[in-house]
Amino acid sequence: MTKAMDTMTSNPSEPTSSLSTEHAVTTPLPTRRMLWATKRAALEALSAKSQPAGSSFRRRWELFEQLTILAGVFLRVFGLFGRGKRNAQDVKLKEVTLEFPDLPEAFDGYRILHLTDLHLDFTPGIEHSIASAIKKIHGKVDLAIFTGDFREKVYNGHRQILAPLKVILDEIHTNDGCYATLGNHDTVNMVPDFQNMGIRILANETVEVERQKQKIAFTGVDDVHYYYTEYALEALETSPSLFKVAFVHSAEMYAMAEANNYRLYLAGHTHGGQICLPGGYPVFTHHTAGRARARGLWRHKEMYGYTSCGAGTIALPVRYFSESEVTVFTLKTKRP
Ligand SMILES: [Fe+2]
Repeated sequence: MTKAMDTMTSNPSEPTSSLSTEHAVTTPLPTRRMLWATKRAALEALSAKSQPAGSSFRRRWELFEQLTILAGVFLRVFGLFGRGKRNAQDVKLKEVTLEFPDLPEAFDGYRILHLTDLHLDFTPGIEHSIASAIKKIHGKVDLAIFTGDFREKVYNGHRQILAPLKVILDEIHTNDGCYATLGNHDTVNMVPDFQNMGIRILANETVEVERQKQKIAFTGVDDVHYYYTEYALEALETSPSLFKVAFVHSAEMYAMAEANNYRLYLAGHTHGGQICLPGGYPVFTHHTAGRARARGLWRHKEMYGYTSCGAGTIALPVRYFSESEVTVFTLKTKRP
């Protein structure tokens, strides 16, 4: 995996990073990062559910786990469990090509590998299925992004996911580096370990990439399903006037991103429903962005969005009428 080169800007209060010629570069933003990390840790400790619309207490996770045990018994009794498990472990490589009239020509053909919702400690061995899917990519990608949910539970440490994550990272080869945002199942305590492994965490921060004196920008927003803070909206609002892509765990910031002229929004969180009705209709979405944005490609005004079904599962290691996926996006400049 190519590790991005990091440099400091001359003004550490600026919300956006500086640049290199060919590689994405981020600024650590120490004060801002520290404030974000403190707030994130406090929200994790409170079991609060902080969302753009307001705060509430989370439902009891233990009750959710008991209900899934009952569902598992039902699936086994009706002989559906094995097929669902095979579906979940068959991770597909999906390719999506998107055209934009305002994509700088230096970025025509730019490829982004998107992985999300790995939940690596829930299904032993799922890392090998994910790595096999990534191996099918021909050549390097330009950038890799994880949009969160690396672990199964919303508590319980994170070191157990580091070894399987390394298996996946060994298969990822990029020009401009590997980035991640955290999901609602993740903890701020992951950040140092991830950065030691070459994954740069974007916590409400923007990086810019320059090629042939043209630039595009990528903004990574921390999870807004449990851990929304004012920094999430601020990150979108203070981003530069460039062709921009937003990376957020869930699609729940889509309207704010479009209002700030983002052209592409990549998310996960829903697992595409994971257990769906025939035709792929999700029974549960667990997000507030509406069913139209619960899976696959969607559009909001001038912005494309993609909600990945994710590569892993939670609650039950099964999928029905939804496919585990890693996704490669190719950005193209639309010519008149
Ligand atoms: Fe997830």
